[in-house]
Amino acid sequence: MDTPENIRLRPADERDIREVIAVEKMSFTSPWSIDSFRHELYNPVSYFYIIEIQRKLTGYIIFWIFEDESHIANIAIHSDFRKKGYGEYLLQWTIEFVRGKGAKTITLEVNEKNTAARNLYEKLGFKCVGRRAKYYENRDDALMLTKYIS
Ligand SMILES: CC(C)(COP(=O)(O)OP(=O)(O)OC[C@H]1O[C@@H](n2cnc3c(N)ncnc32)[C@H](O)[C@@H]1OP(=O)(O)O)[C@@H](O)C(=O)NCCC(=O)NCCS
Repeated sequence: MDTPENIRLRPADERDIREVIAVEKMSFTSPWSIDSFRHELYNPVSYFYIIEIQRKLTGYIIFWIFEDESHIANIAIHSDFRKKGYGEYLLQWTIEFVRGKGAKTITLEVNEKNTAARNLYEKLGFKCVGRRAKYYENRDDALMLTKYIS
C-alpha cells in the first residue's frame, strides 16, 4: 500500500463517472449503468466516495445511511491495485464513517462465489445472516452479511 499522504478519499462527482464505469466493468459481469451511478450522486441517503492513489482513481464505494442502519451498495478496486490493502482501507474507513453518523449496523449482499470479497468482509467482522436465492442476473445466490457497530 502507498504512504498515507498519497491516498485520498473524497466524494465522487460527475467528472468521475467515466473512470468509475471502467473500474465497474472490470469488476462485475453485470455492471451498474451510468444512470445508476449518476443517481447515487443525487440520492439523499447515498454516500459515493472515490479512493485515489497518487491522484489516480483507484476505486470507489457507495453506501446508504438510513437513521441507525447503513448498507454498502457497491465497492470495487481497480484490478491493477488489488491485493494491496486498498479495499480493506476503504471499507474500514466506511465503517468508521457510518459509526460517526450513528449507524449501529452495516449490511451488504455478496455473491456466494466471490471469495475475495467474502474474505475481506469476514476479516472485518461481517457475519452471514441469510441468503437470497438466484439474486444475481446469472442466478447466483447472494449472501446477506451484517456487522454490528458498537
Ligand atoms: C473485493 C475487493 C474490493 C477487495 O479489494 P482489495 O483491495 O483487492 O483487497 P485487500 O488487498 O484490501 O484485501 C483485504 C482482504 O481481502 C481478502 N482478499 C482480497 N483479495 C483476495 C483474493 N484474491 N483471494 C482471497 N482473499 C482475498 C483477504 O482476506 C485480504 O486480507 P489479507 O491481505 O490479510 O489476506 C476487490 O477484489 C474487487 O474490487 N473485486 C471486484 C469487485 C467486487 O467483488 N466487489 C465486492 C462486491 S460485494
